[in-house]
Amino acid sequence: MSVEKLEKTTEASAGSGKKTPKNPAGLEGVVALESSISSIIGTQLTYRGYTIDDLASNAQYEEVVYLLWFGKLPNRAELDDFRAKLSKSFEIPRQVIDLIKSAPKDVHPMDVIRTAVSLLAFYDPDTKDMSREANIRKATRLTAQITTIVGAIGRVREGEEPVTPRPELDISSNFVYMLSGKEPDEVSVKAINVALVLHADHELNASTFSARGTVSTLADMHSGVVSAIGTLKGPLHGGANEAVMRMLLKIGTMDKIDEFIEQALANKEKIMGFGHRVYKEGDPRAKFLRGMSQEMGKLKGDTRWYDMSVRIEKMMAEEKKLLPNVDFFSASMYYSLGIPIELFTPVFTVSRISGWLAHILEQLSDNRLIRPRAEYVGPLDQRYVPIDQRP
Ligand SMILES: CC(C)(COP(=O)(O)OP(=O)(O)OC[C@H]1O[C@@H](n2cnc3c(N)ncnc32)[C@H](O)[C@@H]1OP(=O)(O)O)[C@@H](O)C(=O)NCCC(=O)NCCS
Repeated sequence: MSVEKLEKTTEASAGSGKKTPKNPAGLEGVVALESSISSIIGTQLTYRGYTIDDLASNAQYEEVVYLLWFGKLPNRAELDDFRAKLSKSFEIPRQVIDLIKSAPKDVHPMDVIRTAVSLLAFYDPDTKDMSREANIRKATRLTAQITTIVGAIGRVREGEEPVTPRPELDISSNFVYMLSGKEPDEVSVKAINVALVLHADHELNASTFSARGTVSTLADMHSGVVSAIGTLKGPLHGGANEAVMRMLLKIGTMDKIDEFIEQALANKEKIMGFGHRVYKEGDPRAKFLRGMSQEMGKLKGDTRWYDMSVRIEKMMAEEKKLLPNVDFFSASMYYSLGIPIELFTPVFTVSRISGWLAHILEQLSDNRLIRPRAEYVGPLDQRYVPIDQRP
């Protein structure tokens, strides 16, 4: 691509009306590709044209996965067929269970998930088959298997044996069952279903971009997912939900909030769970999670973490004009549900894998290698100097 064409490309902006600098840091505002999976328009997030509010209020997670991959909501027969295929795929190879059991105790669950998905590729009969049919079979298996992987990691960290998935249960129920080892209760299943729907896809976020870049080289689907897991882990992306809960626990009580936040802002520290690269007027998923956090707190008879979150939300709006993102209220919601903190980002992974897979399928349907340019700003005209003549 010529420099002239590169300049044109980098000038494309996300339609904010703001002129994008030629090489914006962090690719802010750069439109890197076209996609028909999800869109962010103002404060509206849609999956295939359906608003997130509509889907989170009405849809089962499996319907949303189908929608993301196939572009339409399934009818009854299509959903039954899709669920039957998912339910046959929950089991994971013994070698993956062994890996989960033998992982060092101080390794973060996201690292175990990343390695476990990499290991799944050894045993998937379709790993090397890149046809669309094989890719859909692998996507179906990965979506079910990741639920079992995270459930098993949760059990092993509690010193318990992993629970065998139950094929008759849907993804949310199976997940709650495999984490707790108990009959899944309706409240937890409903909350997990909504959380999975809300986190499933989000346009060209950092981990999705990683997944698309990896498979654009025609590397296999598992490699694309492994890249994405590594990217999601960071505290500026999916890792923020854990950081939020650790902050709430560190603050401890309502009366300590003001001093803590003022001090952190004075030290130019970031308050996790606030701000967003794209949403400047608010994240549409946050209001759902805010309500769920309150509801869950009330049900458990302890709204402390919700109440504290609301106070922090108010301070951040007043002092920094920053609003909560998807990770802020999901932290107190998961905590009230009894999910261990180090599994918050893994829960995000159980959901976002469906979005990564939708993007991988879309990328491969009309693939062109993703290979942008960098503007070189280092020195030129250097000459090799033998080592003993160098200063
Ligand atoms: C999401 C995030 C990475 C977006 O980053 P970005 O678009 O590169 O925005 P920047 O980090 O450049 O922030 C712009 C300004 O807002 C401030 N800011 C952004 N998020 C902030 C936060 N959470 N707490 C305090 N200040 C924040 C920055 O310090 C910066 O201020 P400055 O212009 O005075 O230097 C950023 O808001 C952040 O780090 N948030 C916390 C992590 C998080 O919750 N991530 C999950 C995202 S869904």
